[in-house]
Amino acid sequence: MKPVRKAILPVGGLGTRFLPATKAMPKEMLPIVDRPLIQYAVDEAREAGIEQLIFVTSRGKSVIEDHFDHAFELETTMEHRGKSIDILEGTLATPGDFLFIRQQQPLGLGHAVWCARRVIGDEPFAVLLPDDLMQGSPGCLRQMVEAYAKVGGNLICAEEIAPADTRKYGIITPGTRDGVLTEVKGLVEKPDPAEAPSNLGIIGRYILQPEVMDILANQEEGAGGEIQLTDAMAQLIGRQAFHGVTFQGRRFDCGDKSGFVTATVAFAMEQREIAPALRDFMARY
Ligand code: UTP
Repeated sequence: MKPVRKAILPVGGLGTRFLPATKAMPKEMLPIVDRPLIQYAVDEAREAGIEQLIFVTSRGKSVIEDHFDHAFELETTMEHRGKSIDILEGTLATPGDFLFIRQQQPLGLGHAVWCARRVIGDEPFAVLLPDDLMQGSPGCLRQMVEAYAKVGGNLICAEEIAPADTRKYGIITPGTRDGVLTEVKGLVEKPDPAEAPSNLGIIGRYILQPEVMDILANQEEGAGGEIQLTDAMAQLIGRQAFHGVTFQGRRFDCGDKSGFVTATVAFAMEQREIAPALRDFMARY
């Protein structure tokens, strides 16, 4: 079984749900307390042992690349003023291991993943959607890599969602369950609640085999007129092992305003310097 060394971070989307905030700034750079969303995803990938990070970007997203580089003027000025720049350490890319690929048109998540096919080659790979912010230790991808070591094949993060919300998610037809692992018998993208095979939704973490790239090459538009990763993954079922992993931790949907604000509160409450004042405020509010 080949180890998972590469991860794709699709960041080519338009982020329309956050307009006007995302008119000139990528959604992935919106901060949760003091770190942009993208950095949480990068930290999670690194913790899981990922060596190469492939960002699928689009126009207007180059600030993401800058975030993982030196900020010469800032660092020099801070040093002259005797301020520590240690806080910036985790933001630096490992030279040669952060790759940026352009998705020229936002044709969908499946298309974004396919844009990275040449770099993936014939290795298994992870996909992390930075919108889904995972809180827990070990991190979500690390838990999935541990599950991968046991069962191999393809893995998606699975979470029980509200039955009324099936139109927002890829939904799993579940098979047998063994601890955190659920066999995946089928997948359908954004079904109506009446037609959904379960309320087990796909969350934005995946470990996939490279064969999915060949399927994506010929994948037609699906739900919402976009090339859907779910539709391509569904074709792997029966050909390769396919499991859902239940994350032991909390997930926040930061692609959505209420999820974003909830995440801000939850992560702020983890910070000792700001938690007491925030708790006081919320009690009064
Ligand atoms: P979303 O469905 O959240 O779309 O994409 P979006 O465009 O980012 O946001 P809204 O709905 O307009 O507010 C899920 C993930 O897939 C990426 C996004 O960047 C996000 O990480 N994506 C989506 C792409 O990289 N390319 C695409 O063509 C579509």
